[in-house]
Amino acid sequence: MEIPETGILSKKDFGVAFKWGTATAAFQVEGAVAEHGRGASIWDTFTRQKGKIKDGHHAEIACDFYNNYEADLELVAELGFKEFRFSLSWSRILPDGTGKINEKGIDFYNRIIDKCIALDIEPWITLYHWDLPQALEDRGGWKNREIIKWFSEYVSICADAFGGKVRNWIILNEPMAVAGLGYTTGMHAPGKKGLFNFLPVVHHLALCQAEGGRIVRDMVPDAYIGTALSCSHVQPFTQSVRDIRAARRADAIMNRLFMEPCLGMGYPVDAFPFLKGISKFMLEGDEEKLAFDFDFIGLQNYFRVIVKHSYFAPVLWLEEVSARKRNVPLTAMGWEVAPDGMYEILKQFSQYPNIREIIISENGAAFDDVLKNGEVQDHKRIQFFEEYLANILKAKNEGVKIGGYLAWSLLDNFEWAEGYGPRFGLVYVNYENQERIIKDSGKWFAKFLKE
Ligand code: NOJ
Repeated sequence: MEIPETGILSKKDFGVAFKWGTATAAFQVEGAVAEHGRGASIWDTFTRQKGKIKDGHHAEIACDFYNNYEADLELVAELGFKEFRFSLSWSRILPDGTGKINEKGIDFYNRIIDKCIALDIEPWITLYHWDLPQALEDRGGWKNREIIKWFSEYVSICADAFGGKVRNWIILNEPMAVAGLGYTTGMHAPGKKGLFNFLPVVHHLALCQAEGGRIVRDMVPDAYIGTALSCSHVQPFTQSVRDIRAARRADAIMNRLFMEPCLGMGYPVDAFPFLKGISKFMLEGDEEKLAFDFDFIGLQNYFRVIVKHSYFAPVLWLEEVSARKRNVPLTAMGWEVAPDGMYEILKQFSQYPNIREIIISENGAAFDDVLKNGEVQDHKRIQFFEEYLANILKAKNEGVKIGGYLAWSLLDNFEWAEGYGPRFGLVYVNYENQERIIKDSGKWFAKFLKE
């Protein structure tokens, strides 16, 4: 099989200490939603509601990673990765969210961790990748400040169970998606709508982000602790004052909202005064509690965002100029392929003096893959990786402290509200029979990493 060769990149350029890995998330791959005592999560409930997920897809089986994890981890090794990021399903460990522990859930993650170690792969645990136990949503979920207590209990149990074997911890995955899509637009679970939810949910997430960091720090000696934020370089559509201000607001929401509180800078109210309303949900001492000195920030970048001022969108007063309208290269998600946006956002984050290190904890693309004669010739995805990696390298060579790269994703998987349509994997999944086929992009990585 011929893998297109561009020769613009070499693993060597990134240095020997640079970490290379790939990532997944529990709800997107595991399936086995009722097996061995797992409790329901908000995504189980949400996927069962009519019209929420494209084509009525659900994740009861997904990639059946619950049963296939060994062979799948062998694929991680075969592709040459030394790091594997996966998330824990809170309701597999605590079916009711708090209280009684499901030992079978703990066993499952221990088996994953042990298999990683046997394959000489470093496990990376994401504690929260969006699948809140339904029992906790029934008590208000992220809107209820009690979640700090619930989350702390869960984190302590995980740190206790896995801390002896796992060094790398990611506290939250893309909290902005939880607040924005889960509790404001309702496009994600739990499907709550209303701007009034946004501020309390943001604040409770930000408090849990820092508190989770403190718990892992206390309980896991030598832990390497981060949190994973969705970040996109934002540009104004025109150079008008109004568009420039709109871009600043979008940047505050998309890039600064969960970063700056943990750096001790508070919320970015300067660019987006609406956030002042968070003070209503603040208790004494919260300002300090929001801060935590993370070892790394997980930066997840897929596209660039262009915005303009709009009178039709109260509160934010802006609209996105969609990539489809801009005649730019697109992925199957309709996202702009914008490798220089990766460079720009890395440079932007490098302006924060207190970030110790950045890990690209997700990056990748969905394209319309075709399986033909047992092969997936996804050359657009190879080009995507090459161009994004070239921009990461450029930033790194200019002094941005980037310690590693985790490709999204190992497998095609359940892409949330989009169902199984968009395929992000380096490995193709045939959902009919759970067969795995390494795509050309996977082979490209294997070759690249072997050098
Ligand atoms: C971000 C999320 O963390 C992940 O779950 C999702 O599949 C990818 N981006 C692609 O949308």
